[in-house]
Parts: sequence; C-alpha cells; structure tokens
Amino acid sequence: MPKSLIIKNKINKFKKIISVDGDKSISIRWVLLSSLAKGISKAKNLLVSEDVLAAIRAVKVLGIKSHLKKNNECIIYGKGIDGFKYKKGIKINAENSGTLGRLILGLLVNTPHPIKLVGDKSLSKRDFKRIADPLSKFGVKFKLKKNKNLPLTIMGTKNLKHIKYVENKGSAQCKSSVIFAGMRTNGISRIIAKKSRNHTELLSKYLNLPIKIKRAKKYDHITISKVNFIRPIKYNIPSDISSSAFFIVLTALSQNSELLIKNVNINPSRTGIITILRKMGVSIIFKNTKLYKGEKIADIQIKSSNKLKSINCPTKLNSGAIDEFLIIFLVAAKAKGVSTFKNLGELNQKESPRLKWGTYILDQIGIKTIATNDSIKIYGNPNLEIKKKIVIKNFLKDHRVFMTSVIAALSLGGHWKIHDKDSIQTSFPNFLKIVNQIKV
Ligand code: S3P
Repeated sequence: MPKSLIIKNKINKFKKIISVDGDKSISIRWVLLSSLAKGISKAKNLLVSEDVLAAIRAVKVLGIKSHLKKNNECIIYGKGIDGFKYKKGIKINAENSGTLGRLILGLLVNTPHPIKLVGDKSLSKRDFKRIADPLSKFGVKFKLKKNKNLPLTIMGTKNLKHIKYVENKGSAQCKSSVIFAGMRTNGISRIIAKKSRNHTELLSKYLNLPIKIKRAKKYDHITISKVNFIRPIKYNIPSDISSSAFFIVLTALSQNSELLIKNVNINPSRTGIITILRKMGVSIIFKNTKLYKGEKIADIQIKSSNKLKSINCPTKLNSGAIDEFLIIFLVAAKAKGVSTFKNLGELNQKESPRLKWGTYILDQIGIKTIATNDSIKIYGNPNLEIKKKIVIKNFLKDHRVFMTSVIAALSLGGHWKIHDKDSIQTSFPNFLKIVNQIKV
C-alpha cells in the first residue's frame, strides 16, 4: 500500500533556522566525476537520496567502489579516466533520475560492449532521444524503446568523433552529457547551449579540465577536449536551493513568520525562484555570501508577506527556476491579480507532467487557471483559504508534486490526503523532518 500523509491543520507562525539536504545536481556530478578521478575523492554533506544512491550503484556496476558513512560523508575510489570495467551484459538502473540516466550516457560513449540503461515507470516515460541524438554524432549507437524511451542500449566506440552541438532546450542534462562525451573524445567538441544550470562547467573548471566557456546573452559557447587525468575531488556540498524552495514558499505564504536557511547554493543559474518571488513582493535576503569552488553560497533569510503581487514571468527566468514552478504557482494562487507563465513545455518533461499537475492542484484548491501545453495563467486570490477535502494521488510518485501539496496544506488549510510519502526519498529525504522542526 502506498503510504500517504494526512494534513488537517495550517502551520502556526514560526521563526526558525534550518538546514536542508545537499544539492542533488552537484551530488550526482560529484559521484560521476569522482568515479573517473585517479584516487580517493571525499564528499561531505552528500545528498543521500535515492537518485544519488542510484548514481553510486551505477558506478559500482562499472567497477568503482565507494563507502558511504552515516554522517553523509562519502568516499569514492576512482581508478582514473579509463578505470571503468566494461564487462559484457552490464545493466545500469537510473531509477527515477533523469540527471543520472542522461549524464552517465556521456561517460559510457567508449563502452566496447552494449550497456542497457533502465529506469522506473516515471523515467521510462521520459525523452531519451534528446540525448541519444547528440551522442550519436560522436559515433555512438543507440537502441531505444519506441525510438525515444528507456530501456535503451548504448554501444560505444573507440573512434569517437568530436562534434558541434546546439543545445536549444536549455537542458543542463543534455549539455552536461555532451560535455562528458567530449571529455572522452580527441579534438575539440563545441557546444552552443541555451543558458541552464552550469555545475558541470564549474566543477570541470575547478578541476582544471580542458573546458572553455564564453558567455553570450542567451547562449554559452563551450569547448571541451579530451581529458587524460582527473584529480580526486574533495567537496563540501552546499544545500539545495530546489529543496529550500519549499520552505521559502511556506514562509512567504504564512503569517508573521521568518526563516533562515543555512549554506544554500545560490548559483545564479539556479536562483530564478528568488528573482520571481522578489518581484512578487516576498522579502528574501542573502547573508554570508561566499564563493566555494566556483559556486556561490549563502544563508537565505525569508519573511512572510501579506502583500503578494501577481507576475508576468519573464521567460528568461524559466531555466533558472525550472524545478520550482509547482511551488511558485502556489504563490501566484495567493497573489493579487493574474499571473502568467509562458514557454514552459519542458515542465511536462519532468518526473511527472508538471504543468498539468500544477494546473490540477490549483484547480483542487479553487483557483481559476487557463493552461495550454506550455503556458498557464493563474487568477490569484489573496483571501484564499481552503476548507474542503483534497486527495492527491497517482502523480507518478513525483517528489515535487508531493512536497508542493504538503506546503499548500500547511499554508492554505483544508483537509489533505497526499499519497506516496516515500517519493521524498528521491531528492529530499529530510523534508518531513524539517516540516516538523518548523512546526514546534
Ligand atoms: C538537472 C537539470 C534539469 C533539472 C533536473 C536537474 C541537472 O533538467 O530539471 O532536476 O542536474 O542537470 P533538464 O536538464 O532536463 O532541464
């Protein structure tokens, strides 16, 4: 039986300091790059969630050992850039993780034997052609279910050809996977990538890998050459802004409350939610800002707001807030006026079709929306108070649908039954623990 969560009461006003779990994007990149480093890599504050554990298991299948301690420290014993043991009949399970599934393919481009990549029900519905297409240009062969989905088989080659690739979706997963493949390829691979999170580039730069980035207004021009050596990576992983987002919004929507979230990654390619919420009238301040291995980190202070304004969201903010729109829609629901969000087709490519789920949740809480395949108009109601019973289920166990529903229940009221509590294990296992810390 799926475990569900019942919430019947709004949260009382609070003033708290919290820490949220480690950054998922950086944790997965740390695992993958450490697996090809020569020597012992160590991470502190690794996100110990199902997506990251799947990454650790994936590199184990390729012969890379690791040791995960109870305090979220992790050690990976990398064997160098050619250290993967490509045995016959390898199967890798990316489970729920698009990031793992897509990024690891970039590292597997030199496999001499076919490798099968599988995933869970949600990942098996997602688009892998977007990654098979550019990697095929290197000379890699793919077999995909229905030409698009998992399970897929990748057959690498020794004779990788460097490529030129234009990444048009603003997908960091596609960009990163091609960067990884470029690291295995003689010659210079060139990528023109629509702006998206740049953790792969920052980590590669920090490691002195042969990557160059020229920033233009909407696109980055990246070149990457063959990598011969990666040194071990000691990394103290900052907290995830995408996980922080749920508590930022909980505070924004609550009465007379205040929250400080410690040591969060505020890489500008990830702070779309901050820009959007500030425009909507939420007070958010960065404190103790510092640079760590190229990443910007700060404590985030949020105060609740009783004057939320609607937004006509500039589409240039989409990629920097791509995982946060469900929760941003809740703020729009409570804002004065009509908010508009456009060019969001990518949202329906996530763990569940999130634009549809966002619309559904808003409908359940009595908010009028007009949605298309890639846009939504939200008719906000500053007096929004939910009184009815709401059941949220069958959402493909999308962790962000679950957590958004919890925040809606705690901040807007109503009597909620939210299914698939375990979904938080994919990205934010401590989510409900932190909810309880804030409650007391
Ligand atoms: C991620 C990139 C984004 C994001 C995902 C994590 C990454 O996906 O939604 O949660 O770590 O590179 P896309 O690259 O598909 O936009």
